[in-house]
Amino acid sequence: MKILVVGGGGREHAIIRALKKSDGVDEIWCAPGNGGISYDAKIEPIASTDVDSMVKFAKDNEIDYVIVAQDDPLALGMVDALAEVGIPAFGPDKHAARIEASKAFSKDLMKKYNIPTAAFETFDDAQAAFGYINSLEKFPVVLKADGLALGKGVLICQTKKEALSGIQEIMVDKHFGDAGNKIVVEEFLTGPEVSVLSFCDGKTCIPMISSQDHKRAHDGDTGLNTGGMGVIAPNPYYTSEVAKVCEETIFKPTLKAMEDEGCPFKGCLYFGLMITEDGPKVIEYNARFGDPEAQVVLPLLQGDFLKICKACTEGTLDDVDFSFSDKSSAIVIVASGGYPQSYAKGKVITGLTNGQIADCEYDNVHVIHAGTKIIDGQLVTNGGRVLGVVSVSNSLKEALDDAYSEIDKIKFEDAFYRHDIGAKALACLNS
Ligand code: AMP
Ligand code: GLY
Repeated sequence: MKILVVGGGGREHAIIRALKKSDGVDEIWCAPGNGGISYDAKIEPIASTDVDSMVKFAKDNEIDYVIVAQDDPLALGMVDALAEVGIPAFGPDKHAARIEASKAFSKDLMKKYNIPTAAFETFDDAQAAFGYINSLEKFPVVLKADGLALGKGVLICQTKKEALSGIQEIMVDKHFGDAGNKIVVEEFLTGPEVSVLSFCDGKTCIPMISSQDHKRAHDGDTGLNTGGMGVIAPNPYYTSEVAKVCEETIFKPTLKAMEDEGCPFKGCLYFGLMITEDGPKVIEYNARFGDPEAQVVLPLLQGDFLKICKACTEGTLDDVDFSFSDKSSAIVIVASGGYPQSYAKGKVITGLTNGQIADCEYDNVHVIHAGTKIIDGQLVTNGGRVLGVVSVSNSLKEALDDAYSEIDKIKFEDAFYRHDIGAKALACLNS
């Protein structure tokens, strides 16, 4: 089979590595891909949001199956457009992708179907939002731009003053563009966060192994929110008791709600959860694999990844057997100085051969590329999150030790990474 993966970051690289281990895969394409991905797949420089060109490419090249891995093309209806020309694809259609693309849609869904989440109000008028904030006495509050904003459209406001200027930024000054035409103002929750990705076929939802992202840019959870600076799996806060509650109160009801709303969800549904004192609650849904969650979850999958994906598309997930290894995994992201704000591109990366650590001492360690490019045969940086070191081992401690012992071999100007990925999880395991 000829497979096309749409996207060009670390998640897509992890998906391609999982596809390479699947049966019946003859050729893998990635569009637009990145420098490091070109060692594992053929690259086609089509923007992931260019639906027409992507569909034409898939048709002209007789692609058998497409994995639409990124949020924007899903929200733009790429899966629907491929279906129109008879090409099956992994991912939700445009209607179902609203579960991520519109925070107002997902919050209304949770309210209507009693799925536990933070209390909230939605506004499409800035004056009304200012008025509401002025009426509040309890802070912090959380402001969320309705639309897609590269994971940056969430502001946690400690005071009334901060919340008023947040509304100004999102709704009036349009820092996140049209994503800020509507806003959700949400109750601030506390508790450990857990990411649970799940395979869904419209009716059935099978959760994958849990993981824990580290969203802030710097050690000790300081600095700005990023797309994610490192992940560990499994997440020790996600006990089997918590998993059972999530299954009954969140996962199954969400799939059923989407079906009842006439937009059954097929693909990977990502549950961003917080384990509060009142039980697990949904912080966000994503309509795709998490990035960098996919990079640690997929290496633990025991089963044929392509077969599972196709079963999601075909509505036959109950017929496929798979499980997850009892090992642990970790990824530490190496980012460009300045990320998630402005940063330089084009810095030469050293220490790698064919995209992997040149003299890596561990078979269980590999590099996933997120923002790299090959120019004149040389690998250079081309994004905020540049690459990540992934390690799979018998214990979380070993996985982290191995990743950290190799990471300094990769060098580029102004590179930085967090030194405390997994520290909280290790403390939880030792408590
Ligand atoms: P989101 O993009 O919705 O995942 O939000 C980004 C991050 O903001 C989450 O991972 C949380 O750490 C934080 N966050 C979002 N919503 C809330 C909330 N209601 N209470 C506390 N923290 C939140
Ligand atoms: N790592 C968070 C996300 O993929 O949205």
